[in-house]
Amino acid sequence: MAGLGVWLAFIGVCFLNVSALLQRLEHPVKADGSLSLVVIGDWGRKGTYNQSEVSAQMGRVGAKLNIDFVISTGDNFYDDGLSGVDDPAFELSFSKIYTAKSLQKQWYSVLGNHDYRGDVEAQLNTILQKIDPRWICQRSFIVDTEIAEFFFVDTTPFVDKYFLKPKDHKYDWTGVLPRDKYLSKLLKDLEIALKDSTAKWKIVVGHHPVRSIGHHGDTQELIRHLLPILEANDVDMYINGHDHCLEHISSTSSQIQFLTSGGGSKAWKGDIDKNRKDGAKFYYDGQGFMSMEIEESNAKVVYYDIFGKVLHVVNLSKGLRSVYAT
Ligand SMILES: *[C@@H]1O[C@H](CO)[C@@H](O)[C@H](O)[C@H]1NC(C)=O
Ligand SMILES: *[C@@H]1O[C@H](CO)[C@@H](O)[C@H](O)[C@H]1NC(C)=O
Ligand SMILES: [Zn+2]
Repeated sequence: MAGLGVWLAFIGVCFLNVSALLQRLEHPVKADGSLSLVVIGDWGRKGTYNQSEVSAQMGRVGAKLNIDFVISTGDNFYDDGLSGVDDPAFELSFSKIYTAKSLQKQWYSVLGNHDYRGDVEAQLNTILQKIDPRWICQRSFIVDTEIAEFFFVDTTPFVDKYFLKPKDHKYDWTGVLPRDKYLSKLLKDLEIALKDSTAKWKIVVGHHPVRSIGHHGDTQELIRHLLPILEANDVDMYINGHDHCLEHISSTSSQIQFLTSGGGSKAWKGDIDKNRKDGAKFYYDGQGFMSMEIEESNAKVVYYDIFGKVLHVVNLSKGLRSVYAT
């Protein structure tokens, strides 16, 4: 009996340890220690709304930078996520669209609010890797490269209105309820991981913007609950989608660069909040994507339109903390 007790205690300890950590994936850097990638958001529309044009330019830039992987900021499949693991949208909006050789890398993806309107566990199911091995989508997880650590955060469950005023939409909250417990555990796990991180660059990725002057604007729930943790732990960049635009916000009160890459397909909403210029360095109300080149002491973020034209450049240097935008 004592043996069983010890055994149960042992299981308990293992379980606690595992449950207190976000899953960590390792991704190697290039031989010279640098890393490059492209970031896309709000894309899956079977090639329509310039999705294919954006993909072609991503392929071109991806080849030029010899990218290591792709990040998706969510709203991967419109309008209502995937209906199941055999939903043809997975291939029609992903595998058959991002066909360039340079994009045949790992895709690290978070879920957006539209993804939560489908069978959410289908999109998280690793069985999709049998159809397309590039696909890695989890709710919250870490991608650890030697110089940069990427913390992917599931932001949809933070947003009150999806619970309180879902309108005609049905959200699949499997795995999220009870919500308070889910959110407090996520914030705690993220805080621990950020505190423990020794990476040169700390980059947090979520679907919803913390700050945006676009259609949806700031996400108050994230300003309240997430931002203080990012600020207290020297996060360099917060990357998101949700607003269908390209955008760069920085402010004097925070060291964080807020970068939106949500131009993967449908855009041109035309309702930028022109009165809210605070910290907005760049805003493009159209389709496009973002690239990142990360080195030990410098990082460069570039925004492109569907013709591959460079719209905006952000140069960051460690130590100096100065940002030049062209
Ligand atoms: C596709 O992109 C072009 C160039 O930016 C734009 O004029 C056109 O309206 C876009 N089409 C759609 C459906 O958004
Ligand atoms: C940004 O950095 C690149 C080097 O990575 C440099 O060539 C370029 O001039 C810089 N731009 C600005 C505006 O400082
Ligand atoms: Zn969204």
